[in-house]
Amino acid sequence: MSKIRAAITGIHAWAPEYRLTNAILETMVDTNDEWIFSRTGIKERRILKGEGLGTSDIGVEAVKGLLEKTGTDAKEIDFLLCATTTPDMLFPATANIICDKIGATNAFGFDLNAACSGFIYAITTAMKFIESGTHKKVVVVGADKMSSIIDYEDRATCVIFGDGGGAVLLEPAKDEDGIHDSELYSDGSGRVYLHQKAGGSVRPATAETVAAKEHYVFQDGRPVFKAAVKGMSGAITTVLKNNNLTVADIDWLIPHQANKRIIDSVGGAIDINPEKVVITIEKYGNTTSGTIPLCLWEWEDKFKKGDKIILTAFGGGFTWGAVYLTWAY
Ligand code: UT7
Repeated sequence: MSKIRAAITGIHAWAPEYRLTNAILETMVDTNDEWIFSRTGIKERRILKGEGLGTSDIGVEAVKGLLEKTGTDAKEIDFLLCATTTPDMLFPATANIICDKIGATNAFGFDLNAACSGFIYAITTAMKFIESGTHKKVVVVGADKMSSIIDYEDRATCVIFGDGGGAVLLEPAKDEDGIHDSELYSDGSGRVYLHQKAGGSVRPATAETVAAKEHYVFQDGRPVFKAAVKGMSGAITTVLKNNNLTVADIDWLIPHQANKRIIDSVGGAIDINPEKVVITIEKYGNTTSGTIPLCLWEWEDKFKKGDKIILTAFGGGFTWGAVYLTWAY
């Protein structure tokens, strides 16, 4: 029997309406549009406003749109995997909450936390369930409400992150197009540069941890920047080599959107035509697990069946990797 391949058969994404522009940030912290745009490439990010709304609500909007587009009934989903760093609650899993809200009563699900690499980790995990033959309609959500863990008095982080996400449907491929390869890596020693200090089992929430603002993202940006460029360029090079491809063969590179300068440096390191590099950071900032699905959704109309695409990401952990696929529709 020939090997079952997983293919992306639909994509939908969603971002909240409220736009937090650089001009608004200028009124909140000591920053300016020139610094933010030249150092990060970001003009605005979306923020989920409203009492009681969380990452599951971003996921629900994305999955509802995905089901409508692909003519899929929620009850047909047999597995829903949610990549997120900002779950609605520490438990239960946001995947379970999304399934409940959309009526996916036949699905099992869980969350996967690989910070900004969450979506490529999740798509790789989900693909294995398709390849094994046990599951046929798998939804992979990548979503984050980063505003829930950002200190809007810290100019070093509040200008970068935003809320949003998306979802893809994975099904057994009908032909040769689909997901061909994935290389994932992690290095826990990188945790010192990017983490959330409190709220976990080492430092549970107390009045002191809240007062010390330890429930927000801590980032030492420069070492993360360097490791991100090295990690993503290396992973792309390995995936190209594994599949006997050169960079000229690739139609689209879809990098995690953390910083336009990181994306440009990765592009330069592998020497890819900049026109093939998908960039949405100007509109959404860094939505962590949401960046790659937002890119896929924004570019969906430009993709042709058979296009060779590389997804790549780097994030807290450290985690990083690259996925090679050919577009299936
Ligand atoms: O997605 C997960 C992985 N994360 C990443 O990949 C992020 C990687 N890192 C980065 O993207 C960049 O390091 C940042 C965008 C976070 C920061 O850019 P940078 O060019 O590395 O700046 P820096 O942190 O070295 O700071 C340079 C200066 C500092 O001032 P001094 O010490 O030189 O006087 C900062 O205080 O810029 C200052 N600064 C700001 N100034 C105006 C930092 N943030 C701001 C700001 N507005 N928002």
